[in-house]
Amino acid sequence: MTTSTATAVAHPNIAFIKYWGNRDAALRIPENGSISMNLAELETRTRVTFDTSFPMDIFDLNGTRQKGSSYERVLKHLNLLRGIRGISTHAHIFSENNFPTGAGIASSASGFAALTLATIAAMGLELTEIDLSRLARRGSGSACRSIPAGFVEWQKGINDRDSFAFSIAAPEHWNLIDCIAVIEEGPKATGSSEGHQGAATSPYQATRVADSLRRLDICRQAIKARDFAALAEVVELDSSMMHAVMMTSKPPLFYWEPDSIRVIKAVQSWRKLGLPVAATLDAGPNVHILCEAGSEKQVEHKLLNIEGIHQVILCHPGDKAALD
Ligand code: PMV
Repeated sequence: MTTSTATAVAHPNIAFIKYWGNRDAALRIPENGSISMNLAELETRTRVTFDTSFPMDIFDLNGTRQKGSSYERVLKHLNLLRGIRGISTHAHIFSENNFPTGAGIASSASGFAALTLATIAAMGLELTEIDLSRLARRGSGSACRSIPAGFVEWQKGINDRDSFAFSIAAPEHWNLIDCIAVIEEGPKATGSSEGHQGAATSPYQATRVADSLRRLDICRQAIKARDFAALAEVVELDSSMMHAVMMTSKPPLFYWEPDSIRVIKAVQSWRKLGLPVAATLDAGPNVHILCEAGSEKQVEHKLLNIEGIHQVILCHPGDKAALD
């Protein structure tokens, strides 16, 4: 019997410029590049153990043995990674999130980033950050952005080799806070993998993609210059453009709930009154409110005064995925 084990920690990320729709769904090569920030306070911790005596692969998520599609998806990724080493040894995977799974806080991003790093290490391999990002992308597109540190750009690329993410600024570069207004903790109705498939059916997708280089440039510059006003404008525009595509796809996807709209409108009114804030939503109803350090307590207090908001999670820029 031979056994080997490794544990990795990865943070989810909030997209400032969103990834929505694939050019190649099997390889998860996106239609457009994207930019995000890792979330320090949230993490997935995954331990992978290979043992020649295991009769099958096991995946435990937050203490529950996984079956069905969640298990199949992880197994598919595990098989891809085992193929690099040419092994068929079974594995036990124990994964825990310290935040609500499947509620639009991108648990798949930190999940597949941590799984990729832990599996590679447990197989005794050491890969470059670029190769880890490329591999994580195959499990969940946004997972490639949870491999590098801080503020991260995913260059869309045209093939498996050149579609990966890299850090454009370290976490210490800018103390931005993501104040997450938690609206629903349950799993979302339509997962993003299914959602990406419908993106091309929206008449607005081509326009969104065609304008993406411009938005990426503005966002990258705003991060480098720590220009909150410029960031706020492009982040809100990009979020609305993605949700316009979602709502006009076949079948239409409405991720916003009435409470989400209440928060979006409140954020707009606070900004008019001079508080620098910006709102963005991924594939779920929770609203991510960005602000600079110093304003987060005020933002949290205001959010908790809005009907329907019972929990706010404050997140600083997070580090890269790392072995534990
Ligand atoms: O990585 P996926 O397939 O879960 O897609 C993520 C999609 C969004 O969260 C809506 C946008 C993004 O860029 O993270």
